[in-house]
Amino acid sequence: MASKKNKASKMRGACYTPSQLAFIAQVEADLAIQLQSKPKRLAHSMSVASTAESLALMYGVDPFLARVAGLLHDWDKVLSDEELIARAEALELDFGGDDYKDVKPLLHGCVAARELPERYPDLPDEVWHAISVHTTGGYRMGPLDKVLFVADGIEPLRPASKGIEETRALVGRASLDDLFWNSFVGGIIYVLKGGRHLYEGTIRFYNALAAERS
Ligand SMILES: [Fe+2]
Repeated sequence: MASKKNKASKMRGACYTPSQLAFIAQVEADLAIQLQSKPKRLAHSMSVASTAESLALMYGVDPFLARVAGLLHDWDKVLSDEELIARAEALELDFGGDDYKDVKPLLHGCVAARELPERYPDLPDEVWHAISVHTTGGYRMGPLDKVLFVADGIEPLRPASKGIEETRALVGRASLDDLFWNSFVGGIIYVLKGGRHLYEGTIRFYNALAAERS
């Protein structure tokens, strides 16, 4: 008979150990403090975590890591543009020569991925990698990276658009690679339609992935 300590617990379809449940509860409590001035961002982060966990269960990815990555992915969204740029400069983040001012909306993921490991040293590098590429896409994206990217794009609190509805309709029907591709291209179209700056790294990654898929 399993001891109480080793007995796994159920949560929303995922099977977690008591220590994993305690860790999730701690991260949720930390996040509530971190994002207390941004209730919509907090709700979005909780929703991304649930969506990422569901996608992970569906596509054979670790649901615990997906849930935690979802919780933490927008941790630094509370920072001002000036603070994000200052931290990006201090960390010497590599945005391929693009001016940090031009990629302001993309900085929060990379900054958090560099700073949060000190706070949560037991989490593996794949969590930080998923957070670092969740705004840009990137080369050599693994399953957890793709799960977080898609979850951020389709979580149910995000207002529906044609592209988002298209991706939502593919969940469970398309492979994770195809689901990610649809979400990634949809994100690029959204940026183009809005007349906003498209990060050159994302263009290079799009071209590499398009060549890989042809
Ligand atoms: Fe997000």
